Amino acid sequence: MSETSQAHTDYNYKVVRQFAVMTVIWGIVGMSVGVLLAAQLIWPELNFNTPWLTYSRLRPLHTNAVIFAFGGSALFATSYYVVQRTSQVRLFSDKLAAFTFWGWQAVIVAAAITLPLGLTSSKEYAELEWPIDILITLVWVAYAIVFFGTMIIRKVSHIYVANWFFGAFILTVAVLHIANSMAVPVSFFKSYSVYAGAVDAMVQWWYGHNAVGFFLTAGFLGMMYYFVPKQAGRPVYSYRLSVVHFWALIALYIWAGPHHLHYTALPDWTQSLGMVMSVILFVPSWGGMINGIMTLSGAWHKLRTDPVLRFLIVSLSFYGMSTFEGPMMAIKTVNALSHYTDWTIGHVHSGALGWVAMVSIGSIYHLIPVLFGQPRMYSTHLVNVHFWLATIGVVLYIVAMWISGVMQGLMWRAVNSDGTLTYSFIESIDASKPFYIVRFLGGCFIVAGMLLMAYNCYRTIRAPKDSLQAEAQPA
Ligand code: HEM
Ligand code: HEM
Repeated sequence: MSETSQAHTDYNYKVVRQFAVMTVIWGIVGMSVGVLLAAQLIWPELNFNTPWLTYSRLRPLHTNAVIFAFGGSALFATSYYVVQRTSQVRLFSDKLAAFTFWGWQAVIVAAAITLPLGLTSSKEYAELEWPIDILITLVWVAYAIVFFGTMIIRKVSHIYVANWFFGAFILTVAVLHIANSMAVPVSFFKSYSVYAGAVDAMVQWWYGHNAVGFFLTAGFLGMMYYFVPKQAGRPVYSYRLSVVHFWALIALYIWAGPHHLHYTALPDWTQSLGMVMSVILFVPSWGGMINGIMTLSGAWHKLRTDPVLRFLIVSLSFYGMSTFEGPMMAIKTVNALSHYTDWTIGHVHSGALGWVAMVSIGSIYHLIPVLFGQPRMYSTHLVNVHFWLATIGVVLYIVAMWISGVMQGLMWRAVNSDGTLTYSFIESIDASKPFYIVRFLGGCFIVAGMLLMAYNCYRTIRAPKDSLQAEAQPA
């Protein structure tokens, strides 16, 4: 794609800017709630005996805020940017794009009000009640029209691989959301799922796992395939591998859901199928990770001076870690140890913080100067400090959870020679406390980094046009 033709195309950057800025804001909000939850697990009195500050209500607020508000805004921003740049055409419809922005923010605000009030469908990662579900559907349909419409009117014949990943994410999330949210409303704030029993569990985790696979993975891989080559100034390592990666990943992810339901009433063969598909999933996941990291061939030296590139590459390392760990945890005998423990929480955050948050942060640092007419961020030094705060924070978080998780699993299954349990449950909670403190500290590091990011973005946005040019740019 030639830079000259890009300069002549009148792209819709307004909606990209809006989503990019909201990514930072929602990141701070969602992660701060995470830190509060981490603190409540150490000092439960931090709920101040107030119903809407209780752990059970704030926890879905955290997951919704980080996944859908922070992650979702990052996905909207980057997909709208990438589809325009790689198709060399303006977004298909400015009005619909604006509707997706305001509609999505309305969904988030509605979530932030209803979840603390205790209004929930109680389906994990799909807690929002039916009127909000309908709004989500409308926004998503508009999103699909804008994204695919832009691809249809593109000026280049080729469809760059990042768009394949974004496209699969948009289509699959639509199907998942509609199928899993089917419910019978009994009042404006309450509905009951049309599914029941084991079928309900199966549909829920088919949704839940593919929310991980498509919302938290495929879309972010789209981000990776555009921003890693851009930031490294190198073509993607193997385009052929990226196409194999795409088809293998989407063909496998959809089958893996039952690994969330091992040893339940779900038919045994379904559990085994979920396990096998999850283990095979390791292969395309690592293919993608290797493709991303190897894109740096011949440009490794840039890692020394460019903290934005470091964010992107370290995110891929965490992606590799979590997609090695996930297949392992899907093996039934391993899951017998890990399920219900903090090991799962460690896995979640190595994926969610290490991969999803870091690739988003790297991409937003790439985008902010471009969107606001600056050659670089206000302070590369602050980006670097953020990088270290985030990396140290994630490592503290996940290592603490791994240790406490394995410890909990082993304590719960320890039996005395007479067959009685060696430890009571509360003893395992007591033993976990030091690790909860480490997780809390890790969370504080991460939020501190996000606050620096907000300041750095603010200074970049407010700086007079091109005024940052004089200072040395990252190599
Ligand atoms: C400062 C950063 C963060 C902190 C301190 C934090 C903290 C927490 C805590 C304390 C929990 C509850 C764990 C439990 O129930 O035992 C949790 C759950 C969760 N968090 Fe975070 N979090 C952070 C960032 C994120 C991000 C960025 C994402 C996603 C992009 C995320 C996704 C999740 C998910 C999906 C769960 C539910 C896990 C499960 O049920 O297995 N978190 N987080
Ligand atoms: C090959 C890829 C992966 C496989 C096979 C996999 C497998 C698993 C398994 C077996 C569990 C534990 C289920 C349980 O015991 O209840 C799990 C939980 C989870 N994983 Fe992964 N994982 C993968 C990648 C990822 C990534 C990249 C992320 C995040 C970006 C992620 C997010 C989660 C979340 C949020 C949960 C907790 C769900 C819950 O119980 O609330 N996973 N995963």
